[in-house]
Amino acid sequence: MLRTHTCGELRSGHLGAAVWLCGWVDRVRDHKGVLFLDLRDRWGRTQVVVGPDAAAETRAAARAVRPEWVIRVRGVVGARPEGTTNAKLDTGAIEVVCDTLEVLNQAETPVFHPNATDLPGEEVRLTHRWLDLRRPQMQENLLLRSRIVKIMRDHFDELGFIDVETPMLGKSTPEGARDFLVPSRLEHGSFFALPQSPQLYKQLLMIAGFDRYVQVAKCFRDEDLRADRQPEFTQLDVEMSFVEADDVMGVIEGLVRRTARDILGVDVPLPLPRLTWDECMERFGHDAPDMRFGLEIVDLTPLAAASDFRVFRAAVDGGGRVRGIRVPGAAAAMSRKQLDDLTALAVEAGAKGLVWLKCDEDGAWSGPVAKNLGPIAADLKDRLGCVPGDLALVVADSFEVTCKALHTLRKRLGSDLHLYDEKALHVSWVVDFPMFARDGETGGWAAMHHPFTAPRPADLGRLESDPASCRAVAYDLVINGSEAGGGTIRIHDPAVQRRVFSLLGIAPETARERFGFLLDALASGAPPHGGIALGIDRWVMLFGGLDSIRDVIAFPKTQKASDLMTGAPAPVETKQLAELGVRTVVPPKPATAPPSP
Ligand code: AMO
Ligand code: AMP
Repeated sequence: MLRTHTCGELRSGHLGAAVWLCGWVDRVRDHKGVLFLDLRDRWGRTQVVVGPDAAAETRAAARAVRPEWVIRVRGVVGARPEGTTNAKLDTGAIEVVCDTLEVLNQAETPVFHPNATDLPGEEVRLTHRWLDLRRPQMQENLLLRSRIVKIMRDHFDELGFIDVETPMLGKSTPEGARDFLVPSRLEHGSFFALPQSPQLYKQLLMIAGFDRYVQVAKCFRDEDLRADRQPEFTQLDVEMSFVEADDVMGVIEGLVRRTARDILGVDVPLPLPRLTWDECMERFGHDAPDMRFGLEIVDLTPLAAASDFRVFRAAVDGGGRVRGIRVPGAAAAMSRKQLDDLTALAVEAGAKGLVWLKCDEDGAWSGPVAKNLGPIAADLKDRLGCVPGDLALVVADSFEVTCKALHTLRKRLGSDLHLYDEKALHVSWVVDFPMFARDGETGGWAAMHHPFTAPRPADLGRLESDPASCRAVAYDLVINGSEAGGGTIRIHDPAVQRRVFSLLGIAPETARERFGFLLDALASGAPPHGGIALGIDRWVMLFGGLDSIRDVIAFPKTQKASDLMTGAPAPVETKQLAELGVRTVVPPKPATAPPSP
């Protein structure tokens, strides 16, 4: 080893020890001829002093070093003089009095300094990701990720799960997103699909008798990206045989508790709360609501039916709903501009407008449409539970639109009005999802989770006659308003699987062609089975209290699904395309060289 200790290791107990340290020069200060170098590595920072007693050669070398050079120093651990200790630093009580300094590598002036307080924009950070990853915060994030994955692996190992790798090159697994395709060189015109999840493989492992499977699995989905979505992300993928929903949920609850205890020192009481999907949509307008705060949705439809207000009547007459939220004490502080912004937000979410009403000191409503409420004004106040000083926000539209608009408003208000403790952790289950949802494009039925999800046994008889009313044995894990995991009990009867395919508009021949292997496997003695997949990136974000998924992935993609550091995706040689039997319909863009630092 080139070093005896790391830069985060030395303490007062090491006083007098002769040590070797290696690392990056974080900062150099010249204090009246005494040079102070902060040496940094993954483990921490140590102050190195090159004083007047050091050899001339060492002093010259120390004067020459620049930030981000890689050096090796030898010295003796000394106590920092009184008044110069740094309580914020683990090594803040000591310094290394250097007698030898060796430059291992020089560095050009960095595009940005890893310890800068004014960081450049994310584009620059992603382009020079290796520098960005030198930042202590980023190193902490990836260490946290590593710790969380270790907790996951330990948990499942202790419970007898076996880790099995499944292929990256396979056939499309429908999880609702677009596939990433890989052309076959040996079979022109044919393509592999990168897995959207290992769903079918893990079911086949159950059919093969592995009983309990777990995998840290890379998944690929070509979908529109958001702050918590990446085209390439990682799941902790789990499957179990001879189980019911409660069994899978129990195993995950144990993991939630263990992770919260080990990472945050927080005790999560079990069992976790459970909400049905219907209740979730009624109370919060979303299937992954943030339950760290209230602002619950109140149904005003029966009242609105008795109102003279045109907007309310139109919604009720059209079979829609009128729903609102009460924002306690927000009337006075909310400016016209803020209310206009909230209206714009609701409209962006699909609403035709937003009714806002302020409950005045005398208990009367004020606002642009207060006078239109007519006879329902008092009842509206009671129903919402409004008292003087409160603000009410009401949307009239289809159920779906009211859900979307009020959820968006709830989210914005929760954060703008600081209605929750940033450090709080709210974990719950959402269960009893509908089996099917209408496909916006085709108008047919689509699987709400995936086509392999079992309906509740009691609903099996209504699959064909009333698909909308069928509920799935499905469970989503929701942490602080984020879908942190989702799973289901699977269909293990090939006849039921065929019926579900048929409802989804997959003709028997197509089902055979696409999923023949699954149908055959189900017919070969399939145990009842079920499982779940947790979004590891999201877990790390949530347990780390971070806002962006890109901050917990070493080399993430941008919102436009590109890698700014390597320049991927990039055009390839025509020869390579020819080998694959692929021709593009757009002229290739000139290749862009990866940016130089
Ligand atoms: P699902 O599609 O719900 O289920 O995915 C499971 C979990 O993976 C995370 N996730 C994502 N994370 C980052 N970027 C993305 N683009 C992304 N998409 C999903 C979420 C989500 O809850 N095979 C099923 C699981 C099963 O039924 O066992 C599946 O993949 O946290
Ligand atoms: P209008 O007559 O369309 O200008 O609407 C009158 C008021 O009702 C405005 O403040 C609109 O923002 C609001 N509004 C219109 N349509 C809706 C709706 N569907 N839900 C809630 N508020 C609405």
